[in-house]
Amino acid sequence: MRKLILKNQKNEYQIIIEKGIFKNLNKIIKSYSYSKCVIITDKNIYEIYKEDIDNLNFEVVVIEPGEKSKNINTYEVVINKLLNMNFNREDIIVSIGGGVVGDLSGFIASTILRGVRYIQVPTTLLSQVDSSIGGKVAVNSLYGKNLIGSFYHPLEVIVDPEFLKTLPKREVKSGMGELIKHAMIKDKNLFNLLNEYKSFDELYENIEEILFISLNIKKEIVEIDEFDKGLRMILNFGHTIGHAIEKSFDEDFISHGEAVSFGMVHILEIFGKKEISEKLKALLIKYDIINNYDYNIKKIFKFIENDKKIMKDIINIVVVDKIGNAYIEKYTLNEFKDMIEV
Ligand SMILES: NC(=O)c1ccc[n+]([C@@H]2O[C@H](COP(=O)([O-])OP(=O)(O)OC[C@H]3O[C@@H](n4cnc5c(N)ncnc54)[C@H](O)[C@@H]3O)[C@@H](O)[C@H]2O)c1
Repeated sequence: MRKLILKNQKNEYQIIIEKGIFKNLNKIIKSYSYSKCVIITDKNIYEIYKEDIDNLNFEVVVIEPGEKSKNINTYEVVINKLLNMNFNREDIIVSIGGGVVGDLSGFIASTILRGVRYIQVPTTLLSQVDSSIGGKVAVNSLYGKNLIGSFYHPLEVIVDPEFLKTLPKREVKSGMGELIKHAMIKDKNLFNLLNEYKSFDELYENIEEILFISLNIKKEIVEIDEFDKGLRMILNFGHTIGHAIEKSFDEDFISHGEAVSFGMVHILEIFGKKEISEKLKALLIKYDIINNYDYNIKKIFKFIENDKKIMKDIINIVVVDKIGNAYIEKYTLNEFKDMIEV
């Protein structure tokens, strides 16, 4: 069992990482005082874990799986279900799912009755290495991803790596992209460790340690910059180009992890960091995250222009100059366009 404490401006919460801890969830929830606890999960997870979730003996709200559910319509449907159950301010929401369920449940918790407590139980690799901590909760709008949201931290985060055993391969790749990103921006030792494992199966034998290291990287960044005003931006390494690649393709064609991975490699190449980009590519290929590295970056600039993170024509680009060290450079859009199109 590994434990982290994340301290933010108003309070602190614990993150527990342990294989099989889900079996103790009922006991963990009951250690808090409340009159009702409602689980929010998605259909895929509920199908696989129905017996375990039903055994918890709480009300369950099940949403459709995937990004298409992360919107204001689902938000309203779920809130109405909760209010119909006479949900009150002392009650607790438990999110059992990936980043979609986690971000949506967190946003519901932050707004229903002006805020109630919620517990995160992340079930994807991406949510276990990254999205379940840090307090960014949101739904998507017609104008872009995560545009309706707030900063609202959970009461506790319970990470059970056993969930990863049923995770589709594509989702494992997606999480691996974010895990490798954490190594690139903050931790050379993590990068070396990931290099040493022969495959994801070997990594899984050490999964508690790996999740601990990855969550600790994010925790330390969030503690310094809770509201995303400075340092936290380094978590966007690879994301400016990655998001643009995602938007330019059908989501079934390219996964988030793959897109971010392409984004990391491209930025390194644009900044002439050839040696690092070769090392990164080798790692990404080993974990089967990117195969065919042949992509025309010039075609996607229009999607970069529409990025919500661009303010007053200035774009913040995260660059890695040594594995484990990231910094931010500011450019005008035109400057960045020239750099891409060289
Ligand atoms: N809040 C943050 O800081 C933050 C950070 C990064 C990403 N995100 C958000 O996270 C979301 C993506 O999260 P995700 O990649 O976890 O996707 P997801 O929640 O859509 O889950 C991916 C798929 O895996 C299925 N699934 C989940 N757990 C499973 C399991 N144990 N076994 C079998 N299937 C399972 C889901 O039903 C879904 O079909 C995006 O909306 C993104 O914006 C948030």
